[in-house]
Amino acid sequence: MQKFLVTGGVGFIGSNFILKARKEQWANIINLDKLTYASNPQTLAQLQDDPGYHFVCGDINNIEILHSLLEQYQPDVIINFAAESHVDRSILSPQEFIQTNVLGTFQLLEASKIYWEKLSPQQRSQFRFLHISTDEVYGSLNPADPAFQEDTPYAPNSPYAASKAGSDHLVRAYYHTYGLPTLITNCSNNYGPRQFPEKLIPLIILNALHDKPLPIYGDGQNIRDWLYVVDHCEALYLVLQHSLIGEIYNIGGNNEQTNLTVVERICAILDELVPKSNFRHSSLMTFVKDRPGHDRRYAIDCSKISRKLNWQPKEDFDSGLLKTIRWYLSHPTWVKQVQSGAYQSWVKQNYADRITVRSH
Ligand code: NAD
Ligand code: DAU
Repeated sequence: MQKFLVTGGVGFIGSNFILKARKEQWANIINLDKLTYASNPQTLAQLQDDPGYHFVCGDINNIEILHSLLEQYQPDVIINFAAESHVDRSILSPQEFIQTNVLGTFQLLEASKIYWEKLSPQQRSQFRFLHISTDEVYGSLNPADPAFQEDTPYAPNSPYAASKAGSDHLVRAYYHTYGLPTLITNCSNNYGPRQFPEKLIPLIILNALHDKPLPIYGDGQNIRDWLYVVDHCEALYLVLQHSLIGEIYNIGGNNEQTNLTVVERICAILDELVPKSNFRHSSLMTFVKDRPGHDRRYAIDCSKISRKLNWQPKEDFDSGLLKTIRWYLSHPTWVKQVQSGAYQSWVKQNYADRITVRSH
């Protein structure tokens, strides 16, 4: 069986990928994660007795750890999920985004290149470095603009998006300059189990369950494309198995929604699953001060991955949201663990000054 070195695998998408990879026996996994605020070690507790899974706590900026891991485990594939991933945090404190997303990716590329150059010709040709990126590197669309394609020019607007764009350019450069067999995927907004509740969907679910205001930035008409995380993980595996090196793929859910619609749908599902006797969950909706530089619309054209690798998202939004909400309802211990003091400080920092513009 192949060996995958996964970085950032305790986070949302990485943990879903690892669980799927072990369940489907795609590969043995070595997971390097710094365990930042965005990760909960309990997320992968079910793998603790799995001999095909090894966890290492460490930073992708630490070149010594990278060299020794590569030497020790000799992976066939490296998948880089590790990142600072929340746009609002990048607006309030961008430094960590440059440190991990740009410099950390650079260190990982350097260590990978040195490792890859020493492999046998056959291992070298089979090796892959897969970098997980975002549709936010392409900037913001107007309502009538065509969806992002793989050759849409980069126009990142937030410090987060700029740091991801920087990392994508480095990955591209290592392919073109050194021949490192890289792949880049740019996906839209993922949703599903195990997402840290600073992001819209889990934040709304958990606030609604606790009868707290549901903060909607601006007019709620910003549009995102929503991709169920397991569909994303399946796409990544197909890319690893079948793609030519140096390729880029956009991955999306064919599922554009305004934020207002997303919040209303969550409220409607909660009204059914956990009805309140005296109010509807939508009455908690609150319009608050907008995110600075808030991108209006993202949309992904995923015809390339559909045509070349025969991939399509399987989950529709209603079934995906229902699964997601059921997961949060049935994992109260996980929820409690991630809503620690640090989380409460973040909520205060991000929302205290967002004066309510109007209640629903
Ligand atoms: P996440 O914030 O949930 O998890 C990130 C993980 O990386 C955490 O476990 C964290 O501890 C780890 N990490 C952070 N800095 C590290 C470092 N220096 N060294 C090692 N580990 C480190 O993020 P996510 O939502 O799972 O996103 C994964 C990747 O996918 C990111 O690169 C992100 O930019 C990209 N992405 C995410 C989405 C989305 O909707 N969540 C969409 C598009 C692209
Ligand atoms: O598009 C892919 C990107 O999606 C990823 O690269 C990022 O890592 C991921 O965080 C996500 O970025 P967004 O900024 O789109 O996600 P977020 O969940 O923060 O916000 C989704 C939308 O909801 C966005 O328009 C802002 C809005 N929003 C968000 C929060 C947290 C609100 O209206 N209220 C909120 O409280």
